[in-house]
Amino acid sequence: MLLRRSAARRKGRVSVLRAEQNEETTMADPGTLHDAFIDELRDAYDAEKQLTKALSKMARAASSPDLRAAFEHHLEETRGQIERLEQVFESLDEKVRGKHCDGIAGIIEEGNNVMQENFDEATMDACLIAGGQRAEHYEMAAYGTLIAWAEVMGHADAVDLLQQTLDEEKAADEKLSALAEGGINQNAADAAHAGEDEESEEEPAAVGAGVKNRLASKAKAGSRR
Ligand SMILES: [Fe+2]
Repeated sequence: MLLRRSAARRKGRVSVLRAEQNEETTMADPGTLHDAFIDELRDAYDAEKQLTKALSKMARAASSPDLRAAFEHHLEETRGQIERLEQVFESLDEKVRGKHCDGIAGIIEEGNNVMQENFDEATMDACLIAGGQRAEHYEMAAYGTLIAWAEVMGHADAVDLLQQTLDEEKAADEKLSALAEGGINQNAADAAHAGEDEESEEEPAAVGAGVKNRLASKAKAGSRR
């Protein structure tokens, strides 16, 4: 009798639990792609704002005048991208609002850590390019998705505006690759291997040249996106 009563009590608890779970799943309507789109726009808006601070810091840390100019130019572009995102929100009748972007915060934090290292000038420039390209690729991925979603939902104005920004991000990335491959990486590599014998005793000349070529093409691949 006692056993049967506690089994009934257990059964009762289970059905109460099931009822609560059902209520939870039916309480709010599920979010749509449009909600996810707005969320990602807010993320991008915050990311651009974080990047304006980071880019001016990177420009100050750069030794190469061309690299400094590239960061300053992209800083100006980024300010325009913020305004463009505001236009996107307006075109959708949405309030202009940012939402903390953890992804870009992490990339910026890594960049800040590198800037605190005691590297020679060319190496620091190579590292600044590496950090800058990480940020550009993160943004390119975000804008690529935003454009694809805006297209399928028929937000034509948003597509136009976001595409202009994506084109700027791609150009900024290519500019950084050109600077890296146009001398900064090589200058850093020369400083890294300064005073090394071209032909070491253990290594015949032909093998030495092959290793050097492989190292040079590896360094190139590192900045080619
Ligand atoms: Fe940007």
